[in-house]
Formats: sequence, C-alpha cells, structure tokens
Amino acid sequence: MAIRIVRENGDEILRKKSREVEVVDDRIRELLDDMVETLHSYNGVGLAGPQIGILKRIVVIDLYDDKGPIKLVNPRIVKQKGEQEVEEGCLSFPNQFAKIIRPAEVIIEALNEKGKKIKIKGEGLLAQAISHEIDHLDGILFVDKIIPGTLEYVSPDSNKDESK
Ligand code: NI
Repeated sequence: MAIRIVRENGDEILRKKSREVEVVDDRIRELLDDMVETLHSYNGVGLAGPQIGILKRIVVIDLYDDKGPIKLVNPRIVKQKGEQEVEEGCLSFPNQFAKIIRPAEVIIEALNEKGKKIKIKGEGLLAQAISHEIDHLDGILFVDKIIPGTLEYVSPDSNKDESK
C-alpha cells in the first residue's frame, strides 16, 4: 500500500469525467487500498479516483464507525430522497468549508472490491459522502453547489469558532 498525492483545487483532472471500471482486478484492488491509506493519512471521510489523478469510477468512504472503510467501484445513485443542509469540505480544498444541500438518503448500486454487485442505503453523513464522491467522478466539485456566502477559510491550527 502507498499514500498517494491528493490533487488540489486548480488541477484540471478534478474537472474531468471518470471512466467505468470494466474488470475489478488486482490493480483496482491495490488502488482502492492506496486510497483508503491516503484517506486515513488525511483524516478524510471520502476520496474519489480523480483526487489521486486516476480517472476511474472508484471511491472510498470511511465514517470511522464499526462498518470500516467502504470501497465502491462504478457507484451509481439509483434513488435519492429528501434534503439535508450540511457543512462540507473536501480534501482537494484544504481548510475550506461551506454549507451545501445534499440528499438526506440515497440508495446506490456499485461493485465491491471483489467485483460483486452491491446495493447500499445511506442516510445522513453517509448519504452526504456518497453524493460528494460520486460528484467527483463526474468532475463536479462541492464549491459548485454551495449555498452562496457560506464559504469559510479555516486556518488548520485554529478551531472553526475562533476563525469566524
Ligand atoms: Ni471531495
């Protein structure tokens, strides 16, 4: 496993559309493992292929709960319900946060790391993270969707309340 460099705002690859994975093979599994390691090294909640310079429809999410990291290949939202207003950031936009509307609930279909078809229902933070990461696969960034006037720059060594 290896920690990959996370591409940041301004890198054109973040605006490109990712391609479907045709076969979930060892190379894809290695990428997914690297993405989990990278995600953990940044204490992030989610990471998508383009963020490490790979235009493939692969995503990892970890809410640091008992489910452990979730690895998704070719994830697709098949149903979504409701709305939630959430505070959101992105590893490609260090120290930036904004309010955004995300679906309250999503149902997705994807392949797991074994290439098996899975269906996952996500609510709350999981719905938010899934929606954010699938956006990345289509070149859509959270800053495209923020509620105007809510973008905040937070210095990494101060807590958010102090920075307001
Ligand atoms: Ni992101």
